[in-house]
Amino acid sequence: MIKKGIILAGGKGTRMSPLTKAVNKQLLPIYDKPLIFYPLSILMLAKIKDILIIVNKGQLNQYKKLIPNGNNLGIKISYLEQDKPRGLPDAFVIGEKFIGKDNVAMILGDNFFYGQNLTTKLIENTKLKKGAKVVLHKVQKPELFGVAKVDKNNKILSIKEKPKKYLSDLAITGLYFFDNNVVKYSKKLRPSKRGEVEIVDLLNFYRSKKQLSAHLLGRGGAWLDTGSIEDFYKTSSFVSAIENRQGFKIACIEEIALNNSWISKKHINNSIKFYGNCDYTKYLKNLIKK
Ligand code: DAU
Repeated sequence: MIKKGIILAGGKGTRMSPLTKAVNKQLLPIYDKPLIFYPLSILMLAKIKDILIIVNKGQLNQYKKLIPNGNNLGIKISYLEQDKPRGLPDAFVIGEKFIGKDNVAMILGDNFFYGQNLTTKLIENTKLKKGAKVVLHKVQKPELFGVAKVDKNNKILSIKEKPKKYLSDLAITGLYFFDNNVVKYSKKLRPSKRGEVEIVDLLNFYRSKKQLSAHLLGRGGAWLDTGSIEDFYKTSSFVSAIENRQGFKIACIEEIALNNSWISKKHINNSIKFYGNCDYTKYLKNLIKK
């Protein structure tokens, strides 16, 4: 079982300036909570309790104000800084010590997942022992993402980052599962023309060794990447529609911890004090009413 996870939450967010001039993108709101809660909730649903958050140099204090540590969630949160956006596989070089001898999951700080059976599927993916696994989802504009071509058995035939020429409509989402070789392989990568080490190069490395597999997130699941201001609004509307209809919150990290039996009412009360008087704490109060 993969027990460690990385959230890559750095980046300059230049596409969203001026919003991101003073505040990191992952701290901006998706409806009623900061974006970072959503990828964090995904790792927690996958029962991952040891989490490294990689943030942009100089922005650590912003994150620590929001998530000082994992105490109230019954998990371990550690932070490391990335001095500049060197590319996604840089996370495994920065996180070498954290990873140690273990396998690891990684989620990009701006990725949003939602759907039925998601938890079961996530836990299945954490069973990976050898190789790497990506999560694929059909999209209308594949040219905006990393893309994978698969055969009938979901075997990956080829992958490409933001292909100008049509390859497939299956985007490679920002959720990955890797064996321990990821550190060694990431160190071997050289920057591409755009000056970054590329996740597709890392994945291709695994593919050339016949060690890359795919999990297809079907149409019952939603995957949204919050790369632009427009995406923020669309994702916020999605969350608002579901939450207001059902009365359940998406990505309430305390609720997930409670359901996983990682924490007790005492911890929820600590969180209530921490957040202060707001709608989010009303929801937390309701969780421990019974
Ligand atoms: O969201 C899925 C897509 O994410 C994949 O389909 C692509 O294959 C993958 O390359 C990536 O594409 P993006 O164009 O969305 O990557 P971006 O540079 O915007 O970075 C994604 C997140 O990772 C963002 O929250 C910033 C953070 N980041 C990025 C880089 C390059 C870092 O923290 N450090 C980095 O060095």
